[in-house]
Amino acid sequence: MRRHVFATAFDIAVDVFRHALHVHRASILPTAEDRARALELLWKRGDSADPRAIEAIRAANPKDEAPAFLRGPRGSTLSVALGEGDAEASAELLRDTYWNDRFSPDSLVRAAKGSNAWVGAHDEQRRLVGAARAVTDGAKHAWIYDVIVEPSWRASGLGQALMRLLLDHPAVRGAAFVHLGTRDAQLFYRKLGFVESNEIERPYASTTMTLARAPRGRGNEAP
Ligand SMILES: CC(C)(COP(=O)(O)OP(=O)(O)OC[C@H]1O[C@@H](n2cnc3c(N)ncnc32)[C@H](O)[C@@H]1OP(=O)(O)O)[C@@H](O)C(=O)NCCC(=O)NCCS
Repeated sequence: MRRHVFATAFDIAVDVFRHALHVHRASILPTAEDRARALELLWKRGDSADPRAIEAIRAANPKDEAPAFLRGPRGSTLSVALGEGDAEASAELLRDTYWNDRFSPDSLVRAAKGSNAWVGAHDEQRRLVGAARAVTDGAKHAWIYDVIVEPSWRASGLGQALMRLLLDHPAVRGAAFVHLGTRDAQLFYRKLGFVESNEIERPYASTTMTLARAPRGRGNEAP
C-alpha cells in the first residue's frame, strides 16, 4: 500500500515535471515552424512595428527557411523592412537610374530611411538584389518610389514579387489610391492592376502641381 502511494506520488511528480518541462520548452524554444507561423501572423496583423519585428526574428534565426510569403524567385529572400545594413547597397542599385540624376547617394539613403515601407530582396549570399519603397498616409494615399531590380536579376519575376509585397505592406495595404510615376515601365505596373491616372473617373477636373526646389541637406546638388 505504502509502495503504491509512493508510486502514485512519484508518477504525479514525473507528470508535473514533464508538463512543466513541456510548457517551459514551448515558451523559450519555439520550433522553426512556430516561428514561421508567428511571422505570418505578424504580417497579417500589420501593426506599425510588425515588419521590423519580423526582420528581427529572422535575423535572430538565420538558419530558418523563409516563410512562403518571403520566398522570391531563383532562391532569393524577400525582406519586409530593409534597414541600415542595406542603405549603401540600395543607393548603389539606384545610382544610374534616370529619375535620380539630381540626387546624391546620401539623399537616396535618407529618402529610403524616411519611407514608411521599404522592402527588398537578397540573394543567397545576402546581397541586395532589389528594393522598392513607399510613403503613405495609411488610409487615403500611398506613393511608390525607387523600384529597382539588379540587372542580372531582371525578367525573373523579382520586380513583380517586390511590388506585390510592397502593396501588401501594412503601411500600404489600407490606402485607397496607390500612385507612382514611370517613364516606360507602364506594362510592368499594369500587370499589378495600375492604370494611367486619366483612366480613373473623378467627379472633378484637376491637375498635378509641383514645387521644384533645391533639395536641402547634405550632399544634394541644386536641380
Ligand atoms: C522595371 C523593373 C523593376 C522590373 O523588374 P523585373 O524583375 O525585371 O520584372 P519581372 O521579371 O517581375 O517582370 C514581369 C513582367 O513585367 C514586364 N516588364 C518588366 N520590366 C518592364 C519594363 N521596364 N517595361 C515594361 N514591362 C516590363 C516583363 O515583360 C514581364 O512580363 P512577362 O511576365 O509577361 O514577360 C526592372 O526591370 C528594373 O529595375 N528596371 C530599371 C529600373 C526601372 O525602370 N524601375 C522602374 C521605375 S518606374
